[in-house]
Amino acid sequence: MLVLLVLPILPILKVTSIKGFKDVFPPAGTRRERMTTRACRVLESYGYGRIELPLLEKGELFVRAVGASSDIVEKEMYAFTDKDKDATLVALRPEGTASVVRAFIEAGGAREIPVARLFYTGPMFRRERPQKGRLRQFHQIGAEYLGRDDPAADAETLCLVDDICRATGIHGARILVNSLGDRECRPAYRESLTNFARSRIESLCADCRARLERNPLRILDCKNPGCAEATADAPLMADHLCDPCERHYGRVIELAEASGVKLQRTPRMVRGLDYYVRTAFEVVADHKDLGSQNAIGGGGRYDGLVAQLGGADTPGIGFALGVERMELAGGAEAEAVYADSILIAPVGESCEVAAALLARRLRLAGAAVEVESGARKLKAQMKRADKAGAGFVVLIGPEELAAGRPVVRDMIRKADYPGCFGLDDDAEAVLEAIRKVGNN
Ligand code: HAM
Repeated sequence: MLVLLVLPILPILKVTSIKGFKDVFPPAGTRRERMTTRACRVLESYGYGRIELPLLEKGELFVRAVGASSDIVEKEMYAFTDKDKDATLVALRPEGTASVVRAFIEAGGAREIPVARLFYTGPMFRRERPQKGRLRQFHQIGAEYLGRDDPAADAETLCLVDDICRATGIHGARILVNSLGDRECRPAYRESLTNFARSRIESLCADCRARLERNPLRILDCKNPGCAEATADAPLMADHLCDPCERHYGRVIELAEASGVKLQRTPRMVRGLDYYVRTAFEVVADHKDLGSQNAIGGGGRYDGLVAQLGGADTPGIGFALGVERMELAGGAEAEAVYADSILIAPVGESCEVAAALLARRLRLAGAAVEVESGARKLKAQMKRADKAGAGFVVLIGPEELAAGRPVVRDMIRKADYPGCFGLDDDAEAVLEAIRKVGNN
C-alpha cells in the first residue's frame, strides 16, 4: 500500500480479474438475485432462518471438519497466514457447513438452540481448475438442520431440495441417494474396500493409489475410466450397513417417496467431504450447458461433526446448491424477463418530459422503470430494452403524446398494444393495463 502511495506516476495498465473469479452484470445479476430469493422463500416456508457468516475462518476449521485428506483441504483452499503475532492460518471458506457448526457451538449449541434450521447464501472459494460450471469463487444456497437424527428430518430435507428445484425452474433434476453408514459399520466396510482396491492396485490411477490408505471411499468416485472399470465389482456400503443404519435408510426413502420425492438409489455415490454419515445425496441435472459438472447440489447427514468441533454431540443434516450450476440448468430462466420491468422509449426530445413524469409515477407505484434518451433512434432503444431484459416497452412518440395514449410492447411476445392506457391515468391503473397486456 505504502509503495503505491509513494510511486510518482503509475504507468497505464489494464488490471484484469483473477482467473475463475467472475463479474456478473445485470440482467444476469438481477435474475440471480430473484432466483435466490425464490429459493430463500421455500427455505422460510420450511421454518429456516438466515444465518450470516464470515467469509474468512481459521484454516484449522476446514481441516478438522471437511477432512485433511479431502481434495478441498489438500489442494483447493485459499489459505494464508495472517499478520497477527501467532501467524494464524486463515482460509477463505470453501463451504458453509463447517462455519455453521462453529457458529452454532459458539452460540451455545443445542442448549441454546435445541433445533436449529439455518440457511445461508453467498460466495465460497475453491482453487479448482476453472471450466464451465466450475469457478474459483462460486455461490451456494445452503441449509443446515441441527438437532434431529430421525429419518423424518432427512426425508423433509429431501423434500425441501426437491421444492427448491421446482420453485427455481431447474430442468430435469434428479436426486441420487445413498447411505454411507456410521461409525459402527463403516470401518469394516472401509477395510473390505481397501483390501479389494489393493488387489486391483495395478489398474488404479496415481490419485487412487494415494487414496487407498487415506480415503479409500473416494476411489469409487474417480472419473478415470480405468479406475471405474477396475472397481466395477467393488464391495458397496449398501451391502455392509449395520441394522440401525439399514433401518434408518429404508425409512428415509419410504418417507421421502411417500411425500412425492423421486429418489434414485446410487450405491456407488460417495461425497468429497469427510463429515458425512448415513444419508448422503446429490442433485444432478442432464442439461447440455452443464457438461461434466452436472452436480447442482449435494448434502447429507453429519452426526458427530458438532462433537468433533468441540460442541455437545448434536446430529445434523444439510445441503448446498451451486448457484452458477442452477443457472446453467435453466434455474434462472423463469426470471428471464420480469413482468414489472418497464423501459419507456420517448421518440424525440419533445417526448422526454412525458416519459420522465410517467417513469416517476410508476416507480412510486412499485415498478422497475428505465427511461431511454429521446435523442436515440427507436431501434437503438429497443435493442437496449432487449439487453436489459425489460418485460415491456412503453413507446411515446409525438403522435402518442398528442393523443395522450402510448403504445405498449410486450417484449416476450413481441406484440404491440396501442392506446391501452392514458398518460393521465393513475399509476396503479397504468400498471394494471400493462400487466393485462402480459396476461393476454
Ligand atoms: P459440495 O458438494 O462440495 O457440498 O458443494 C455443493 C455444490 O456447490 C455442488 O454440488 C456444486 O453445485 C457447487 N460447487 C462446488 N464447487 C464448485 C465450483 N468450484 N464451482 C461452481 N460450483 C461449485 C458442500 O459444499 C457441502 N457443504 C454441502 C452440505 C451442506 N452438506 C451438508 N450441509
